Amino acid sequence: MIDEVFEATKSGIPFEPSSKPVPVEERARLLIDPGFGKVFTDHMAMIEYDEQDGWHDARVTARHAFTMDPASPVLHYAQEIFEGMKAYRRPNGGAALFRPDANARRFAKSAIRMAMPPLPEEMFLESVRAMVRADREWIPETEEGSLYLRPFMIANGSFLGMRSSTQFIYAVIASSVGSYFKGSSPTVSVWVTREYVRAAPGGTGEAKCGGNYAGSLVAQGEAIRQGCDQVVFLDAIERRWVEELGGMNVFFVFEDGSVQTPPLDGTILHGVTRDSLITLARDMGLTVREEPYSIEQWKADAESGRLREAFACGTAAVVTPIGRVKQADGEFLIGGEQTGRITSRLRSALVDIQRGAAPDPHGWVQLVD
Ligand code: COI
Repeated sequence: MIDEVFEATKSGIPFEPSSKPVPVEERARLLIDPGFGKVFTDHMAMIEYDEQDGWHDARVTARHAFTMDPASPVLHYAQEIFEGMKAYRRPNGGAALFRPDANARRFAKSAIRMAMPPLPEEMFLESVRAMVRADREWIPETEEGSLYLRPFMIANGSFLGMRSSTQFIYAVIASSVGSYFKGSSPTVSVWVTREYVRAAPGGTGEAKCGGNYAGSLVAQGEAIRQGCDQVVFLDAIERRWVEELGGMNVFFVFEDGSVQTPPLDGTILHGVTRDSLITLARDMGLTVREEPYSIEQWKADAESGRLREAFACGTAAVVTPIGRVKQADGEFLIGGEQTGRITSRLRSALVDIQRGAAPDPHGWVQLVD
């Protein structure tokens, strides 16, 4: 049955256009300065799953609210996963996705970790392409603008027993976005939490599941109260190795031009942006290490000048330089709180490929016709 549905969706997901799309003038007003995750498009994609029929009923329809039973397992046990990816406007007016196959693969892996049925990768890809086709007019024309796609899967049903569900809803919503960080400073500040950890070995750290993000919010709140933009999590065992920020990976750049990022040891999200930047840095001839980096070393290297730059990266954050690191016993600065040269080169190399301003040597860009 899954194969039959798969064949059906390869030839195109049925599209029922919204009968009440946002008027063109209103949409133009919303796209001037959309912020992040506040402006939503007219449509959504949906595919349903149950044990008998597998994945079925793929469709793109008007964006609408879900009706769910209050005993639906996602509401109690957070059996939920998601992805974040972007579609960009091309110089010729078309649209393109960046490495959607990497998101499809990660989504399937997250599903397996959370005892959910993996969505066939081709179905995932067809659903996001269908959304870009339906809502391409929602891609902002601004320099930083893009269409942020949010595929997600939730466990549906009506029971409270501790077991995996047998019914699931997969959906894709889309949001017109500008840059993730609002401030006027070229760099962001981060707070190193000592009280909370994001993920432990054997846990769900490398799955993109909602629970990881819910669990980070109290620490992110701590960061905001400390006057910082983002929280930094250390490892759960020794509480000294830098792992990840609230919703983004982290990189360090040294005086010899080498670049380092924490290794993917099961507790860190396999960021698509992280992976792309490692490749681009190596293309530039830079040495890249995927090795642990401790918070004491980060401070010592920033103070001695051995560390020149640090940045956060992710689909939402793109590449955002870190200028100030604060912890309970004080703070230290990086690169005079200015955007560093290598951070800036890596950011441009990535963004130029994504937006079609530079060749795409790794075949990462997929045009949506
Ligand atoms: C993304 O970069 O797409 C993320 O998932 C971060 C998000 C939670 C804002």
